[in-house]
Amino acid sequence: MVSRIVQVAPFDLVVFGGTGDLAHRKLFPALFHRFLDGQFSQPTKIIGVSRHDFDNSSYRGSIAKALKQFAGGSSTDEAIKGFLAMIHYVVLDIGSDLGWDRLEHQLEKEHERVRAFYLATAPDHFGAIAQKLAAHSLVTPASRIIVEKPIGKDGASAAFINDAIGAVFPEERIFRIDHYLGKETVQNLMALRFANALFEPLWNSAHIDHVEITVAEAIGVESRAAYYENSGALRDMVQNHLLQLLCLVAMEPPASMHADAVRDEKLKVLKALMPIDARNVEAFTVRGQYRAGASEGGAVKGYAEEVGNPHTMTETFVALKVEIANWRWAGIPFYLRTGKRLPQRVSEVIVAFREVPHSIFTVESGKISQTRLAIRLQPDEGIKLWLMLKEPGAGGMRLQHVPLDMNFAEAFSIYAPEAYERLLMDVIRGNATLFMRRDEVEAAWRWIDPIREAWNHLNEPPRPYFAGTWGPAAAIALVERDGRSWNEETI
Ligand code: BG6
Repeated sequence: MVSRIVQVAPFDLVVFGGTGDLAHRKLFPALFHRFLDGQFSQPTKIIGVSRHDFDNSSYRGSIAKALKQFAGGSSTDEAIKGFLAMIHYVVLDIGSDLGWDRLEHQLEKEHERVRAFYLATAPDHFGAIAQKLAAHSLVTPASRIIVEKPIGKDGASAAFINDAIGAVFPEERIFRIDHYLGKETVQNLMALRFANALFEPLWNSAHIDHVEITVAEAIGVESRAAYYENSGALRDMVQNHLLQLLCLVAMEPPASMHADAVRDEKLKVLKALMPIDARNVEAFTVRGQYRAGASEGGAVKGYAEEVGNPHTMTETFVALKVEIANWRWAGIPFYLRTGKRLPQRVSEVIVAFREVPHSIFTVESGKISQTRLAIRLQPDEGIKLWLMLKEPGAGGMRLQHVPLDMNFAEAFSIYAPEAYERLLMDVIRGNATLFMRRDEVEAAWRWIDPIREAWNHLNEPPRPYFAGTWGPAAAIALVERDGRSWNEETI
């Protein structure tokens, strides 16, 4: 099957933090793939900006290196050369007023041409960059700004950043990236729910027993110790990626795929989350921190050793029991967990349906397990519907739990684009459906902040777990207390 490519009109994309990790690992490889697929029309310009001393040629050299490392091996030198011809570099210290004229000089002047400013920098700089863009008259009516999570570290700092960007760009031209929303299977969650008549009638507390969302990583904190120490898994993963997944699973059907229609429904879910605070934090949350162990095929250090802080209280694992106080979901637990240095990289949503009300089968037929829908985000993107079926053969009625298995790579046999490819093209097209609106980000923080405050108040260290295991035993107990267990069938 061939994916359909609709070309976008020529645009200017300015990448602040153009020499950084995000730009090299994710943004340029994503742009390169879109270029290879013929999605760009010319003349399109991509302008890297940072204070490091590069010229066009040395910058292009560093991008070429990044593409070889991070864009998959199949591209020819010719293709890379064609892509690099669109790339330019401007030396600019965002703290200074000098150099902005050089940036202006690189930008095309037609007012209707899309100008996208991607802030691949620390969030502390978002407001200042927006203000400088305005002060140097670089913001045209077709300009838009793209910011990355984390937007703030709590509700107050998020509001501060949103105010600063909002003073220059109207909300509909602010694109807040949560790259999980660009993942193919995450979008498929909407297709699955709203393009099939099968699930939606069952998608409620009358038929669903519980929902589980796991985002597990095998990696540790890598080179991001300084950031991670001040963040931890709750802010780094739950406030954004896991809550966004939860919203897509739990939201009411939006009237359309229009950005605000979808975001209105997600916001309602965030507002309906049952608060977790000092009163119930111990019953509903588990924090963990990895100790030395075995991971990714070798011995690895513990977190405290990695960040050089023996007293660190930062969590590298969180498990939560979340409830949504509305008619559709009242009483149905959503179990969320995420962590670093877990046994493998796997992200999935499990929707476990209620058990049959009465079994007509004898004990010899075996146990009837729940019908489970497993939506696998990564790796091996796909969907499995676990059903009870009869084991083949003449040996009587023996039942087995088996999956209807839909692996996207096999089913569609086309290259699945990386999240950033889809998201960057959506920015250029002006489609904000897969981006977070201001009120969503702030509502998510409003729910997260009391959890963090309650943890601070408890002042207990996170529970230890060995690298390469599924987190502290208390995370298993969190689910088992309710007579359930984390899904193991697909992991
Ligand atoms: C980022 C987090 O947002 O997502 C990282 O800051 C995490 O800590 C990453 O490793 C995971 O993304 P993915 O796409 O690899 O699952």
